[in-house]
Parts: sequence; structure tokens; C-alpha cells
Amino acid sequence: MAFLPQQVPSAGLPSAITICEVGPRDGLQNESRILPVEVKVEFIERLVDAGHRLVEVTSFVSPRWVPQLADAEQLLDRLARVPGVRYPVLVPNERGLDRALERGITDIAIFGSATETFAQRNLNRSVEDSLRMFEPVVRRAKDAAGRVRAYLSMCFGDPWEGEVQASQVVSVAQRMMDLGCDELSMGDTIGVGTPGQVAALLEALVAGGTPIETIAVHFHDTYGQALANTLEALRHGVRTVDASAGGLGGCPYAKSATGNLATEDLLWQLHGLGIDTGVDLAKSVATSRWMAAQLGRPSPSRAVQAIGNQ
Ligand code: HMG
Ligand code: MG
Repeated sequence: MAFLPQQVPSAGLPSAITICEVGPRDGLQNESRILPVEVKVEFIERLVDAGHRLVEVTSFVSPRWVPQLADAEQLLDRLARVPGVRYPVLVPNERGLDRALERGITDIAIFGSATETFAQRNLNRSVEDSLRMFEPVVRRAKDAAGRVRAYLSMCFGDPWEGEVQASQVVSVAQRMMDLGCDELSMGDTIGVGTPGQVAALLEALVAGGTPIETIAVHFHDTYGQALANTLEALRHGVRTVDASAGGLGGCPYAKSATGNLATEDLLWQLHGLGIDTGVDLAKSVATSRWMAAQLGRPSPSRAVQAIGNQ
């Protein structure tokens, strides 16, 4: 019999949360090996079969900037979309939005930066100019009855600028939400944050007028803090957590960014706490082991490794 966590709830936590599975996008954008589109489609279909209802599938960015995801159109043309499942995509500019709309996609995510250096490196423009670039994207997506997530990167530290002040994060976050976005995903792009910082930032955001119900967290796991940070965020009322199957992930334009919080590590903790995710741990592990074989290296997820050895 497979070993599963013993269920022992803890006070102050929700009974259910939503996982935003970012493996096909954040995971595969950073791989040196470009996978065939059929493999990407199978990856997404397996994730949906495991129970995910929110899977970020690709990016409509410049193919010169992220060649790993240059096949976004082919991917969406081949992907059989299951009713009730959301398949959002990243869109930086109007060109990206046009490509998404041509494929009937209105569930999008823009992605800004709390710091100037990363805005320049990731979007080739200042924070101010990136907000200007996003404005028509959000307006047109909302006119098309779409849903817009706003990612904000480098909220907890920046590899070039060092510490990032909460006031700076809150200010850019508010300007992104004021564009008309539905959700804010707070990115610890390089995985340096710790729980006290998570609490302080969430409190500052809420005090600044961003409702906690609209905030998601996006933790990379570079320093092994992602699970602790997630638990802190849940205690503060966050109900959407980003994670990546098998702990894939990173950003080609952020020095020292490693994989995202692994979905399986998150599932182990949440299921142990009796928090419903709708996602099957065994199927998730099987998918990540299959993907590890495609990529030719083992998954960094502790739960994937441990369950694989049972
Ligand atoms: P640019 O070079 O300033 O843009 O890049 P441009 O408008 O001058 O265009 C350059 C070329 O790209 C042109 O082609 C455009 O047509 C084309 P050319 O005429 O030279 O042949 N182009 C496009 N092609 C297809 N789709 C498009 C598109 N836009 C322009 N949408 C740009 C500006 C924003 C395009 C570029 O910087 C870019 O694509 N950046 C994306 C970088 C990226 O995807 N990074 C990873 C995602 S963010 C992340 O991972 C963090 C996150 O996970 C949260 C966290 O962890 O913190 C979300
Ligand atoms: Mg990321």
C-alpha cells in the first residue's frame, strides 16, 4: 500500500484551496531541451487527468526571447480543452494578446516587476514603460470578457538590486491591479523570501487596499522556503497557490532562479493538513516521473523522489 500523510488538521487553515499548476509554462520555459509539442500536450492532459482545474499552459511572448515556448499556437491547436478547466497563458503586449485572441484565449496573465533591473532584463523596458505596455492588454482582454492575472516578480529580493522594500512592491502591485486585473500573484522569483517577510508583505498589500481574496502566491524554492512561505500565506487568507509539477521551473532572465514549489511537496503537506486540492498525489507523481524521463534528469521534488522509492 502506498504511504500517504496522516491527516491531522491545524487551526486557522482553509478546508480547500486552488492550485495554479504552472509546470507547462514556468517549468518548460527554462529547460535547455525544447520538448516536442506532443509531449507538452500530453503533460497538460496528464495534469488535468490528475485533477488540476487551473493549468498555465504556455506564453505568447517573443519566440526570440523564449524559444522553448515558440510553439504556443501549435500547442493550443492540439490541446483538447476539458470543460471546467482553465488554461491561462502569459501575454506581455498587444502582439501577444492578438495571438491569444486568435486562439480564443481570454484567460491571460501579464507579468510585471517590482524592480527596475528585472523589468529591463525580462521585458526590455522600465517598470513605468511596462505598465504602459500592459494597459491596452488588460483593457482589451477585459473588453473580451477575459480574466487577467497580474504577476509581480522580485517581490522578496532581486539578484541585482538585493533587498526589495515592501512599499515598492505595494506601489507597483497597486498600479497593476488598478489596470483592471482580477488577481495578483506575488512572485518570489529567486526563492529568497522567508515567512515573516511573506506575512509583512501580505499585510502591507491588504492595508494598501488589495483584497486578500485576490492575492495568489508564487514561490520558487531556491532556499527551501517555499512550503513554509505557503503555509504562512494560507494562514493570512491566501487561497490560490502556484506550484509546478515535479518542481520544474525558473526564469531564463533571472540569475539564480531555480524551480518552483513542487506540486507534489505541496500536496503532501496540504493533504496531511486535510486541505482539499482536488489533485491526486499518485497521478501527479507518475506524471512528474514521466516528465523527468522526457527531460533526462530526475525531478528535484522531495515527494516525487520519496514516493518513487516506496
Ligand atoms: P522587445 O525586443 O522590446 O520587443 O521585447 P519588440 O516589440 O521590439 O519586438 C521584438 C521582436 O519580437 C519583433 O520581431 C516582434 O514582432 C516580436 P521582429 O520584428 O524583430 O522579427 N514580438 C513578438 N512575437 C511574438 N509574440 C509576441 C511578441 N512581442 C514582440 N508577444 C518583449 C519585449 C516583451 C516582447 C520581450 O521582452 C519578451 O518576450 N519577454 C518575455 C520574457 C519572458 O517570457 N520571461 C519569462 C516569463 S516571466 C517569469 O517567468 C516570472 C513569473 O514566473 C513570476 C515569478 O517567478 O516571479 C511569471
Ligand atoms: Mg516563476
